[in-house]
Amino acid sequence: MSEPLTLALPKGRLQEHSEAYLAERGYTITFESRKLVATDESGTIRIMLVKNSDLPTYVHHGIAGLGVCGTDVIYESGYEFFTLMQMPFGSTRMCLAAPEDLDPASYTGRLRVATKFTRFARDYFQQNGIAAEVVRLGGSVELAPVLGLAPYIVDLVETGNTLRAHQLEVVKELTRVDVVLVANPAYYKFHYRSIDSLVDTLHRGPS
Ligand code: PRP
Repeated sequence: MSEPLTLALPKGRLQEHSEAYLAERGYTITFESRKLVATDESGTIRIMLVKNSDLPTYVHHGIAGLGVCGTDVIYESGYEFFTLMQMPFGSTRMCLAAPEDLDPASYTGRLRVATKFTRFARDYFQQNGIAAEVVRLGGSVELAPVLGLAPYIVDLVETGNTLRAHQLEVVKELTRVDVVLVANPAYYKFHYRSIDSLVDTLHRGPS
């Protein structure tokens, strides 16, 4: 039997979806307590659980040949991968948001924007000819307008609950964010037969 394919999955909110999706298609993974690497019961895939924002680094360096990751995180990494398929879960929106009572007319000059997605935000504002100062935060970005760091934020909006809880509202949807299965291009060249067969099985749906 050939070596299992290596696949990185993100810890956190996408992990449960990814594991359930794979299990429904015959790839059941059980992690021993506190272990972050496991091979599925059929011996087809070796899974590595990594931090979401580190996932592109593992795939870029070929530690994992494949990865399940949001297009937002891939964009921030700056790495280029082959996109094999879009996953049927985890889609969300990247939005510009501000306090509900913010008067845009009172805000002339450069937009001050706090975000975790600095590469995306800088590129977006530059490509759209908008003068902006982008302030990097590591998380809980919705606090920035509340505490007075920046009136605007660029962040993911799924249900909108986080914005509403902080009296913020979407000013503009900037892009759609999807969860995709990607491959390291060199890894794909060596393993395309087994990768294509895996992707076919995944597309076929629950077994
Ligand atoms: C994400 C995002 C928003 C929230 C949006 O945060 O950055 O804060 O989810 O979801 P909602 O519209 O359903 O409320 P995450 O939980 O990843 O935490 P973080 O911002 O602290 O990284």
